[in-house]
Amino acid sequence: MRTLIRGGTVLSASGAATADVLVEDERVAAVAAPGLFGEEAVDTVVDATGKYVLPGGIDAHTHMEMPFGGTFSADTFETGTRAAAWGGTTTIIDFAVQKKGTSLLSTLDTWHAKADGDCAVDYGFHMIISDVNDTTLKEMESCIGGGVTSFKMFMAYPGVFYSTDGEILRAMHKATETGSTIMMHAENGIAIDELVAKALADGRTDPVQHGLTRPPELEGEATSRAITLAQVTGAPLYIVHLSAAQALAAVAQARDGGQNVFAETCPQYLYLSIEDLAKPGFEGAKYVASPPLREQHHQADLWRGLRTNDLSVVSTDHCPFCFKDQKELGRGDFAKIPNGMPGVEHRMDLLHQGVVAGEISLARWVEISSTTPARMFGLYPRKGVLAPGSDADIVVYDPAGRQTISAQTHHMNVDYSAYEGFQLTGKVDTVLSRGRIVVAGGEYHGSAGHGRFLSRDLCQYLN
Ligand code: URP
Ligand code: ZN
Ligand code: ZN
Ligand code: ZN
Repeated sequence: MRTLIRGGTVLSASGAATADVLVEDERVAAVAAPGLFGEEAVDTVVDATGKYVLPGGIDAHTHMEMPFGGTFSADTFETGTRAAAWGGTTTIIDFAVQKKGTSLLSTLDTWHAKADGDCAVDYGFHMIISDVNDTTLKEMESCIGGGVTSFKMFMAYPGVFYSTDGEILRAMHKATETGSTIMMHAENGIAIDELVAKALADGRTDPVQHGLTRPPELEGEATSRAITLAQVTGAPLYIVHLSAAQALAAVAQARDGGQNVFAETCPQYLYLSIEDLAKPGFEGAKYVASPPLREQHHQADLWRGLRTNDLSVVSTDHCPFCFKDQKELGRGDFAKIPNGMPGVEHRMDLLHQGVVAGEISLARWVEISSTTPARMFGLYPRKGVLAPGSDADIVVYDPAGRQTISAQTHHMNVDYSAYEGFQLTGKVDTVLSRGRIVVAGGEYHGSAGHGRFLSRDLCQYLN
């Protein structure tokens, strides 16, 4: 089976060139000067004239069917990966969530069972550690052997996912020993819980209180503390969903000092603000995620961080809860609003607006959305680049396309969009997942079970 993608501008993390891409079965066979391959020996021709041809997006932070606050995030692996494909994301890395008192390996089995046979595109797992003990630490080695090479820990959510500094230190020692990566949710949860209790005692219960009780200083503090613990233990550190200028400053300082600290941000922190959380009535509940949306001035810092590489990756933290029947759980008590926002479908498009606005270059767009996540999480060069031998995960993107985001037309299994009415320049035209056309001509051609589990190597910046 041969597909020729003809006449497009092929993008990579290092630039752009007019070229044809030849796909043979599941892999890229060649990238060559336009017209070099004849069309006779080809089964399918995709005309990419006037369009970009780029490696499929890698969303390194999603939560499909994740248990949280007595409910589950609304996208299953099936619906969530289908929406990802629609938006030009052909790999997700989701989180298996250890419950206190259970083992990492049984957790991993559970998540394999959830995703196996359901995914439209390829997927991997990170492991969330919420119970640090001798068994868990030993099991980190087995996870790595099973292709799960990164471990998320929480400085937030006391009593649920929270780990003490001592527990974090122990896991970091294990990460140093094994070459694996610690991912950190860096917010000072102990202090936040006090602010939340005080707000509720004072009768302040609206969604905006979610933001006001999680001030950016407490993200900055936790980020600095995580960096210090990583320095003491020699562990590589990846800060997830960085939202605040204070946290970015801590990351930049550590990187300038030569420490192996990396960070991601998310589209919601680049495009939305605490003004959205403050929308009247209960509307703000749509925007409750942690860390919370910040004052608008943080956005300029985050774009700068993306340019300077103090922020290396943009992931979505896709964790959708329906407004009607799930966010509702927190009416009258903001602390009970399930934390998370939808976004897996629109990351590539929203970041393309950064190109249109001159915030980032085309090459940087590809780098932060595909190439760096592949390297960071041990998938390169199978993913993250269009080169001979790479998986044929390919997006043909029309830079002149126009679209308006709406819950009426999106493909995520959630009843609202955080970006409702956003008018975008650029649109996904055609998507291939391992050589198979899954989106073309405004139609979906994928299927559940096409996506395969990705056993990942260690971080390729360090190993
Ligand atoms: O509010 C969020 N971000 N929900 C998902 C879980 C997490 O902390 O990433
Ligand atoms: Zn988190
Ligand atoms: Zn998350
Ligand atoms: Zn629902």
